Amino acid sequence: MLYIAVSILVIWFFILTQGAMFSRKVVIWLYNNGAGVYDLIKRHDDTQLIQALQFNTYAPEQIALDLATGTGRASSVLARAGFRGKILGVDGSRSMLQHNRQTALVEATLPDIPVCDCSVDVIISLEALEFIGAAMLDEAYRVLKIGGRLIITNRTPFTGLMPGRCFSDKRFVHILANIGFLDIQKASKIHYVGIKFYTVYTAIKGEHP
Ligand SMILES: C[S@@+](CC[C@H](N)C(=O)[O-])C[C@H]1O[C@@H](n2cnc3c(N)ncnc32)[C@H](O)[C@@H]1O
Repeated sequence: MLYIAVSILVIWFFILTQGAMFSRKVVIWLYNNGAGVYDLIKRHDDTQLIQALQFNTYAPEQIALDLATGTGRASSVLARAGFRGKILGVDGSRSMLQHNRQTALVEATLPDIPVCDCSVDVIISLEALEFIGAAMLDEAYRVLKIGGRLIITNRTPFTGLMPGRCFSDKRFVHILANIGFLDIQKASKIHYVGIKFYTVYTAIKGEHP
């Protein structure tokens, strides 16, 4: 009995929520210790996502932020989707940043984004909102220029295990709309072992409602 209970706790802590319900420091500690194997464990096929993000509004002078960049996957997705501007990656884990191939990187603990209001054209954040919480959406709105684009994943299974961090589709759209985002669209999905784990949303910053 004890063995089953401990196994469930370990699966919940390390696999399902990766320490997110304890504290941000615990999550970052886990990523600092797992950075060396992250790309080996997570083998992404981002073909559909890249196709979905090929917007014709990208321009060379634009600035993008990759929030919780990790080893740089989202920056690479954005570049392969046609983004030609500068990409700044932000992450709280020094070890993950040491494995990141991008050059413009900042170590910072989110949700606070260390850039000025209305200063970036695109924000991308893949597989990170569940660790940081909905406050990151308000921060994303603050730093995006009006008309700027948010690209973000919402984790869909086990939403009840991570309240305030994963949302039903209906609730997620409602939260984005309340902040002031417009044109909220489901762009793509991300699957692991055949299970839909994430929905990728895109939205545009409007004026405050
Ligand atoms: C699942 S990985 C995603 C990395 C990358 N976006 C990707 O899709 O491969 C989650 C990332 O979020 C970062 N992270 C988690 N909590 C954070 C926080 N509070 N502040 C900054 N980064 C955080 C971790 O260090 C890790 O790099």
